[in-house]
Amino acid sequence: MKIMTVFGTRPEAIKMAPVIQELLGRPEIETKVCITAQHREMLDQVVDLFGIPVDYDLNIMEKGQTLYDITERILTGLREVLEREKPDCVLVHGDTTTTFTAALSSFYQQIDVGHVEAGLRTGNLYSPFPEEANRTLTGVLAKWHFAPTETARHNLLKENRRDDHIFVVGNTVIDALLATVKKDYIFADPAIESIEKHKRVILVTTHRRENLGEPMRHVYRALRRLVENVPDTEVVFPVHRNPLVRRVVNEELENRPGIHLVDPMEYEPFTNLMARSAIVLTDSGGIQEEAPSLGKPVLVLRDTTERPEAVAAGTVRLVGTDEKRVYENAFRLLTDETAYKAMAEAVNPYGDGQAAGRIVDALLWCYGKKQEKPSVFIAK
Ligand code: UD1
Ligand code: UDP
Repeated sequence: MKIMTVFGTRPEAIKMAPVIQELLGRPEIETKVCITAQHREMLDQVVDLFGIPVDYDLNIMEKGQTLYDITERILTGLREVLEREKPDCVLVHGDTTTTFTAALSSFYQQIDVGHVEAGLRTGNLYSPFPEEANRTLTGVLAKWHFAPTETARHNLLKENRRDDHIFVVGNTVIDALLATVKKDYIFADPAIESIEKHKRVILVTTHRRENLGEPMRHVYRALRRLVENVPDTEVVFPVHRNPLVRRVVNEELENRPGIHLVDPMEYEPFTNLMARSAIVLTDSGGIQEEAPSLGKPVLVLRDTTERPEAVAAGTVRLVGTDEKRVYENAFRLLTDETAYKAMAEAVNPYGDGQAAGRIVDALLWCYGKKQEKPSVFIAK
């Protein structure tokens, strides 16, 4: 039984790493790994950290790449790899252009596709863009659907996916997170180690395509006002490598006291910094899943989310990108202890650290190598 995993960006790598580790531990499975390198440096950081053995590297990233560029290069690059390896199943993850294109490329050769983190939906094809379409289209092409939550399973059933091909397994990001966050972690970067000791950290990330330009500018102006008006706080902002993000960040936030602009952080220091931050402001998908597990209030800089579970649990709030709204929500959390405590409750709607094992057990069941179906993830 040959399983090939294909991924290309930082979050896919983080969330596929536990699955690959699990696949490699099963002697009945031959495991192949193909990276598209839709991201280069940010992907390599994760591949190195988890020691992922890469068999194929399509190395497609270009500065300022368009959706056409990514799609075109992956579709043709994967063709040869799939013709050569002929895996029984290709595993893809999430909602990136790598995800959809790898699923399409596999479909063209009638190779089964397994979709990890299947079934998340906002219901609006343009938000997040193009991720909502990528994930939905991958769901159409996939044979096996590994849904992180019961809500995701329901979304797939509404789209007429077969019930016995959907497995509710939890999100593998929680497997990665639990293996990485440590109580006595010491940051290798002395600057971060010292901020964290003296001040409350506001951790920030932004990268969504629909937030590029003015929406991001609004958020950054809110950050400036926050550090000016709440004296014991500092912003740590690992800035995404997208040049369109970097330009606006530099225009609005460079050389401002209390605002630390750093390069994308390695996964280990990043998650440990999240564990010690006061609040998180982000438009990231993965961080919306990790922070609730660590009991950190998250203000989501978006108008929609495909991850409603932590919003319902009260640890995540959608605030969009309006300067006033972002500022007022963050200010209140940082100055009103009751408001803070109400959001700072650790909840685990997304996983229990066992998702990767369930996925690989399910694959063995799907291909007749195991009698029992895997256990189901039930959120507590
Ligand atoms: C991509 C995904 C998005 C995911 C995000 C995670 C698509 C369409 N978008 O968005 O779903 O949430 O990754 O971060 O699939 N760059 C580098 N080095 C890197 C990574 C990026 O220089 O290691 C720069 C390049 O100039 C690249 C640009 O960032 O062209 C944008 O990268 P791209 O993958 O196209 O889009 P993201 O916004 O990163
Ligand atoms: N992350 C990281 N270093 C950083 C910022 C984020 O390792 O400097 C991790 C984070 O913990 C999460 C993932 O990257 O697991 C999220 O990636 P991103 O926000 O780029 O993509 P998304 O989840 O929105 O697709």
